[in-house]
Amino acid sequence: EPEIITDKNQMRRWSRAMRSQGKTIGLVPTMGYLHEGHISLIKEAHKLTNLIVVSIYLNPGQFSPTEDLSTYPSDFDGDIQRLMAVPGGVDVVFNPYNLYDYGNSSVAGDGEVEKKGAVSCVEERGLGHETWVRVERLEKGMCGKSRPVFFRGVATVVTKLFNIVEPDVAVFGKKDYQQWRIIQRMVRDLDFSIEVIGSDIVRENDGLAMSSRNVHLSTEERKKALSINRSLSIAKFAAEKGQVNSGELRNMIIQEINEAGGRIDYAECW
Ligand code: PAJ
Repeated sequence: EPEIITDKNQMRRWSRAMRSQGKTIGLVPTMGYLHEGHISLIKEAHKLTNLIVVSIYLNPGQFSPTEDLSTYPSDFDGDIQRLMAVPGGVDVVFNPYNLYDYGNSSVAGDGEVEKKGAVSCVEERGLGHETWVRVERLEKGMCGKSRPVFFRGVATVVTKLFNIVEPDVAVFGKKDYQQWRIIQRMVRDLDFSIEVIGSDIVRENDGLAMSSRNVHLSTEERKKALSINRSLSIAKFAAEKGQVNSGELRNMIIQEINEAGGRIDYAECW
C-alpha cells in the first residue's frame, strides 16, 4: 500500500531521507482518475528508479475559468486501489490540497496587480501567487493556441512538483506530446537535474487513446472521437506509401474527422 502524503514539507523530507540512503526516485505527475495510460508510466518509471512517487493534483493553474476544473472526474479511493495493483507497487502518493495558497504570504500591493491578458483559476481565486514558468515558443502553438494559460500552468506546477519531490526521473505520456516536449525543454533551459522520459500512448481496444476525460463522452461522441486515431492512421499509411506532401496528409486527417462529424481545434502536419 502506498504511503499517502499531503504536506509538501513532509514530501520533501521523505525524498531527502530516501536519497541519503542511496535510493533513486521516479515521479509520475497526474491529475487523478487513473487509467492504464497512467499505470504504464509507473511501469516505465519502475525500470529506471528504486522508488516511485505518483502525484495526484488537480492543478487549477492550468485551467482557465471557462474550462472544466469543476467537472474534472475524480475518484481518489479508486485511484489508490488501482495503484495497489501495480506490479512493484507505488511508494508514495503525493496528494497536496492546494499548491498555490501560501497562508499569510500576501504582501503589500497584492490585489493592486493589474490582471493582464488571459488568467487561470489561480488568479481567479485571488491567491498570492504570481510567478509563472513559460516555455515561450513551444507553449504558443497547437494546444496552446486555444488554451493560452494551459502550458504556463503545466510548466509551473511541474516545476513545483520537481522542487518538492526532487526526483531523479520523471515520466510523461506521449499522448500529450506537446506537454512532454515542453517539460523536456524547461528542464534543459532551467538546469533541472532530472531525466524526463516520454512513454508510449496507451489505447482502448478500439484505438481511442485513454484519457480521464473520456468518461464524459456519450456513445455518439465516443464514436466521433475514434476518427482521431483513424485519421492519423490513414495519414501514416499514406506517408509510408510515399506521400510526402504534408498539406495533402493534413487534408486527409481533416477530411476523416469532418466526415465523422468531429469539430477540429487544430490539425498540424509537417
Ligand atoms: P493527466 O492528464 O492526469 O496525465 C498524467 C500523465 O499521464 C501525463 O504525462 C499524460 O501524458 C499521461 N497519460 C494520460 N493518458 C495517457 C495514455 N493514454 N497513454 C500514455 N500516457 C498517458 O497531463 C496531466 O495530467 C497534467 O497536465 C500534469 C502533467 C499532471 C500537470 O498537472
